[in-house]
Amino acid sequence: MTGELSPIDKAKFVAAKRSVDFVEDGMRVGLGTGSTAAWMVRCLGEMVRADGLKIRGIPTSTRTAELAKEVGIEVVTLDEARWIDVTIDGADEFDGNLNLIKGGGGALLQEKIVATASDQMIVIADAGKEVETLGAFPLPVEVIPFGWQTSKSLIEEFLISMDVLGQDASLRMNGSRPFVTDEGNYILDLHLGRIGDAHQLAMVLNQIPGVVENGLFIDICDVVVIGFGDGKVETRDINEGTVAADRLDFVETENLFTDLKD
Ligand code: 5RP
Repeated sequence: MTGELSPIDKAKFVAAKRSVDFVEDGMRVGLGTGSTAAWMVRCLGEMVRADGLKIRGIPTSTRTAELAKEVGIEVVTLDEARWIDVTIDGADEFDGNLNLIKGGGGALLQEKIVATASDQMIVIADAGKEVETLGAFPLPVEVIPFGWQTSKSLIEEFLISMDVLGQDASLRMNGSRPFVTDEGNYILDLHLGRIGDAHQLAMVLNQIPGVVENGLFIDICDVVVIGFGDGKVETRDINEGTVAADRLDFVETENLFTDLKD
């Protein structure tokens, strides 16, 4: 089955597979959203079913909640869990300080709440997500539908005084209608090209009326697990200042891929 995966999917898979080593019996685990996080949820589900791992999962979207239940993970809300031991999630971009752009899948609000309520946030990503400076990936900003065009104009106006290359915002669409988040909000994607001061931009955006949250995750991520298409995995811990590398053996994952065939 692994032979059928593209190199990027293999990279996402090995990152996800390695990340579940951080999960221990009894933990409350934040479950991210996106294709990489979906691999991680499947890996955890296999550990629950095959090894009797006991965890409670706090999903960051309805999509992830459905998948988690499907693979056998007990799902609880953040209010039930109150605090989280570890959250594992994907990212659209990460830089050398493990600052992130997230929200490509539209789940940035729950993702940021869950990650911030966690002792540890682990990001899983293929190597192509690493950047020197954040901003090539359009920055998602969640806005309430009421007056969204005014919020968009205000954001574009604010961007003129920010250290960014571009100032255009576009409403994310789902076919011919606006994309709607789990909270019933819209997403504006900011085409910035390069973000000179991500800390400042993250704070300024959230001051604009109508903005609910932005996709810059600053000083939230603790560890990044980077996967490569050849099975190599690199784990960087920003707090410990450590880097570890190894290679994942695809043979050990045969059961998981059998599960995924349908
Ligand atoms: C969803 C996210 C995702 O984690 C991000 O878009 C990465 O997705 P993928 O793993 O599919 O590349 O932030 O809101």
